[in-house]
Amino acid sequence: MNRLALLLLALGVAQSSATLGIDTIASISTSGFQCLKNNGYWFYIGRVGQSNGGIDQGGIQNIKNANSAVLSCMGAVDAYLFPCHSSGCASAKQQVINTVNALHNAGAKFGTLWLDVEIYNWGSDQGTNRQFILDMVAQCKSMGVTVGIYTNNNNWSSIVGINWNGVAAYPLWWANYNGAANFNNFVPFGGWSKPSIHQYQGDVKGACSVGNVDMNWYP
Ligand SMILES: *[C@@H]1O[C@H](CO)[C@@H](O)[C@H](O)[C@H]1NC(C)=O
Repeated sequence: MNRLALLLLALGVAQSSATLGIDTIASISTSGFQCLKNNGYWFYIGRVGQSNGGIDQGGIQNIKNANSAVLSCMGAVDAYLFPCHSSGCASAKQQVINTVNALHNAGAKFGTLWLDVEIYNWGSDQGTNRQFILDMVAQCKSMGVTVGIYTNNNNWSSIVGINWNGVAAYPLWWANYNGAANFNNFVPFGGWSKPSIHQYQGDVKGACSVGNVDMNWYP
């Protein structure tokens, strides 16, 4: 075999080891997760903290179902927190405490807690928004929780300023619905030189009749 063929073979192997996953707020049974896994979807990220400050018990149940469908052996069941910003919402730290405690109390194992940073009721003061994110991250760390950030260039730019790199040390789950399961076209921002996960398609009809899902990929 010549060098080119070897290179192509290596690329092929690298490609086939890439990983697809979904997130959705629809409920998914254990057999639904087994079906997803059989169809090549290897990770799941469940909503737990809601933008109204409540806990999504359906998301917690999904995480437990995903774990029992042995997605967990891939280390691939995560949770996310969509923070609450309207008046009467708990503090940033308290929202993390509520979310993590709800997962722990339910015995729902998860890998990373992703903090959803997208335009929705955030105030206009970027300094306040930055501190809110720093507080959430600090609370995760003090509870021993692995943390990551879900956002994209536009949302980040509006909420904290495109160049604010205060949490660049944590993994980025990049929302960009360009339909391509890869990191091509990623434009660095916020101190991230590349994402860890790409959410490449939103709100599509999922496999296994699980309802509408967002499609995700990591290498
Ligand atoms: C912010 O992110 C959400 C989720 O990916 C996306 O739907 C929305 O279009 C983004 N907002 C902007 C202004 O890009």
